[in-house]
Amino acid sequence: MDIIKVENVSKTYSLSKKMNLPVLSDVNLSVEQGSIVTIYGVSGSGKTTLLNLIGCLDIPTSGRIFIEGQDVSLMNDKEKSCFRNAKIGFVFQEFYLIPYRTAYDNCMVPLYFAHKDAKRKEKNIESVLDRLGIGDLKNRKVAEMSGGQKQRVAIARAIINENPIIIADEPTGQLDSHQRDEIALIFKSLRNECKTIIISTHDERLAVISDRIVHIEDGRIIEQRD
Ligand SMILES: Nc1ncnc2c1ncn2[C@@H]1O[C@H](COP(=O)(O)OP(=O)(O)OP(=O)(O)O)[C@@H](O)[C@H]1O
Ligand SMILES: [Mg+2]
Repeated sequence: MDIIKVENVSKTYSLSKKMNLPVLSDVNLSVEQGSIVTIYGVSGSGKTTLLNLIGCLDIPTSGRIFIEGQDVSLMNDKEKSCFRNAKIGFVFQEFYLIPYRTAYDNCMVPLYFAHKDAKRKEKNIESVLDRLGIGDLKNRKVAEMSGGQKQRVAIARAIINENPIIIADEPTGQLDSHQRDEIALIFKSLRNECKTIIISTHDERLAVISDRIVHIEDGRIIEQRD
């Protein structure tokens, strides 16, 4: 089953009244449930823009996006944020963690918005942090962590809610090759739990764990390989 379907999506940012910047052109993409798809492309090619659209954080200029068969463009803002909280865990390129709170507190954030099973999921925070190799940093403030440690907290926060889709924008950008391989293993184990994972990267080596590699150049998909 295709859990995500991107149909003829284009995105143009308007920089001023007269200046429009086309960033994505006629993108088509299907993502099968329980697979890992890597969006690969150089800086500025449109990866974050595409992930933000799939993650319901932004709306396309034209085209449609279906998640679990539902057309997201038909939802109002409130419906969309409910839907996003229930379906998608997002690892942002810039993390967007709360710096002066602990790893544990940062993982609590999505649970405030998830009424369902929040108590049970809270009990899982420690095991999720352990799984990411930062269990001992549970009570440390994010501001006092290294880039790689922050990246792990961001991944922990994205998976704590047990959402079916994980979108990770450059999830290994701050990591050395050993740490990158560890994160790759975590994504593989999440796939084994039937999670669907979309990763953006300009690091070709992350492609080894992918079921599909989507090569994006100047806002266009130029190649898709299985
Ligand atoms: N909010 C915005 N308003 C205007 N232009 C934007 C906006 N966000 C991104 N852009 C532009 O859109 C293009 C694609 O940006 P995007 O962030 O999607 O690229 P990327 O592939 O994620 O790059 P990187 O690998 O550096 O993260 C760039 O030219 C960027 O300057
Ligand atoms: Mg980006």
